[in-house]
Amino acid sequence: MSALANQAVSASDDARQGWSPDGWRSLPVMQTPAYPDQEALARVEQTLRNYPPLVFAGEARKLKADLAAVAAGKAFLLQGGDCAESFAEFHPNNIRDTFRVLLQMSVALTFGAALPVIKVGRMAGQFAKPRSADTETIDGVELPSYRGDIVNGIEFDPAARTPDPERLVRAYNQSAATLNLLRAFAQGGFADLHKVHSWNLRFVAGSPQGERYEELASRIDEAMAFMAACGLTAETVPQLRETDFYTSHEALLLHYEQALTRVDSLTDEWYDTSAHFLWIGDRTRQLDGGHVDFLAGVKNPIGVKCGPSLQVDELLRLIDRLNPNDEPGRLTLISRMGHDKVEDRLPTLVRAVAREGRSVVWACDPMHGNTIKSGSGFKTRPFDRILKEVQGFFAVHRAEGTHAGGVHFEMTGQDVTECIGGAQAISEERLGDRYHTHCDPRLNASQALELAFLIAAELKAERASRDESAQRAAGA
Ligand code: PEP
Ligand code: CO
Repeated sequence: MSALANQAVSASDDARQGWSPDGWRSLPVMQTPAYPDQEALARVEQTLRNYPPLVFAGEARKLKADLAAVAAGKAFLLQGGDCAESFAEFHPNNIRDTFRVLLQMSVALTFGAALPVIKVGRMAGQFAKPRSADTETIDGVELPSYRGDIVNGIEFDPAARTPDPERLVRAYNQSAATLNLLRAFAQGGFADLHKVHSWNLRFVAGSPQGERYEELASRIDEAMAFMAACGLTAETVPQLRETDFYTSHEALLLHYEQALTRVDSLTDEWYDTSAHFLWIGDRTRQLDGGHVDFLAGVKNPIGVKCGPSLQVDELLRLIDRLNPNDEPGRLTLISRMGHDKVEDRLPTLVRAVAREGRSVVWACDPMHGNTIKSGSGFKTRPFDRILKEVQGFFAVHRAEGTHAGGVHFEMTGQDVTECIGGAQAISEERLGDRYHTHCDPRLNASQALELAFLIAAELKAERASRDESAQRAAGA
């Protein structure tokens, strides 16, 4: 692991080429909160600049290498977590349960696909939210929109809705504590494959997915007993008792991201140490905008959300800008087209990237293009549309001969009722039972596991179709 010099900027290549972590400030920046007290904001940014990095550059490089394997078709990316983390729901059990479902999903995917699964949480920093309007009006009262707990409060009153810089420090502290627990879970025994049975959450265990998972866990137990008899135990093979778990969030609030961006003393390169992986949202991916400029200069692996309005030439220019040296693992394109648009919009993009010979990871976010308002007024996402978008995504990649590299979900380990459908058949009427999200509707633990099994089947089909073409090629 490399030490990170605090602000000691030497004449790195980037500095010579004119990139600087504050370059975004002189560019158009969408979705920026209007802080009334700029001096207080500057003081908080200075405070954060003196705080320790949350992740290390060496870890970000390791994730980049893992993602390079995904880009090469040799691994699969599982990214998931809250739409928005909140101060109110900050609790060790919430962190544990989300982590646990991600482990379960990863077991289902690894087993089905016979591919390593790279696990990345939308956790420990996923606070800032882009909004479609700057203000919200209720009963004739207009207030600033809620932009996530790192910016302002969700309550509809003037004090709560005023952007407060102190929230950056609170978000940092919550992220640090969350990450500390995640590291302990990943490496301290919780993720030990001998414990696969104990990851089944109580409310999932009785469901069809829970039972299916139990079956899988028993098969893994058998395999482990066989391996132990051959001398392969958790003591001799550390991969059996621990796992790599990475963090990610949307790099939306650039004041926060800049304050945590440091020069890595080993490589003399800039890293955003707020998370291993950062992405640019669909609303802030303008080529001449501050968000693209900021992420172009840090060396972390990064992502871009690709919505239905993205044009081919725009995408190719984004790739040139964000990954000029075509470094494998650097860039993940997260498609979020909507169930009814994916098979229409995605093929031209996938084809153009392949034609240009660019190395990217293609991942599917089947959440953000499928949000609807239910009759009862709740924002929801129908499970069948989420599944349909995932299936469309796989179909496009099968047809193009490219690797469907990963998925990106908004999900929680809690037994919430926010997305309708799934094997539990959550109905519109039941949305109000346990609707806890601070922002968008999330898959609950059963729905997330159900999707993982369905995706494992898609990955199996992808493999079969690849084997078949290889055989045909060999026979020809
Ligand atoms: C999100 O991931 O929470 C989000 C806002 O996504 P998008 O930028 O794709 O709308
Ligand atoms: Co969201």
